[in-house]
Amino acid sequence: MNFPQAFPVLATQRLVLRDVDDRDVEAIFEMESDPVAMRYWSRPPMRDRSEAVAAVARARQFFPSRSALRWAITLRDDDRALGHVSLFGFVEASNRAELGYGLARRHWGQGYMHEALVAVVDCAFGDLGLRRLEADVDPRNLASIRAVERLGFRREGWLRERWQVGEEISDSALFGLLARDWAARER
Ligand SMILES: CC(C)(COP(=O)(O)OP(=O)(O)OC[C@H]1O[C@@H](n2cnc3c(N)ncnc32)[C@H](O)[C@@H]1OP(=O)(O)O)[C@@H](O)C(=O)NCCC(=O)NCCS
Repeated sequence: MNFPQAFPVLATQRLVLRDVDDRDVEAIFEMESDPVAMRYWSRPPMRDRSEAVAAVARARQFFPSRSALRWAITLRDDDRALGHVSLFGFVEASNRAELGYGLARRHWGQGYMHEALVAVVDCAFGDLGLRRLEADVDPRNLASIRAVERLGFRREGWLRERWQVGEEISDSALFGLLARDWAARER
């Protein structure tokens, strides 16, 4: 894997994906305090804005510590984040990483995540030199399953009772995408 020297800002037809920073606290709080958007997330919804401040502070360490890349998804003419996409869980020797993503609810259904994910996957298999991406999705999270399947991810496994969030225990559907699947995909 080629971990980038500078944070890779990505541009698409409608979007700019940039490093998360302090401007994003309100947007992250909007998305991550919404019980509907957080229904299948790996932790409960935020209750206090201070949790979003702490989340942004943690996210700002991802790139310098080479532990993850988290992009704020913004419109080309509006810097306010709609949501975010991350590559994390890098196993550099095996050239693989995990993909995570979310949008605030009012931005669903407009294709923004698909557009953002295409750019991130292109970057992952291009400049970053990864060979395999994984996504761990709650099997009930149909919008998320549609999002990864639209990219060509294949369902590779079912991990039982993998998560506990509060009192709720849930399974994981594990999805995988290879660089060669991506190269062979019809655009
Ligand atoms: C997962 C999530 C990002 C999917 O959002 P989404 O808006 O459905 O996904 P996209 O941005 O790719 O948009 C695709 C939808 O927009 C529609 N659409 C509208 N205009 C479009 C356009 N110009 N281009 C593409 N799709 C468009 C598509 O038809 C599609 O709807 P469909 O799935 O009903 O067919 C969203 O549900 C979410 O944030 N959930 C909460 C967080 C979460 O669960 N994350 C995943 C954890 S594993």
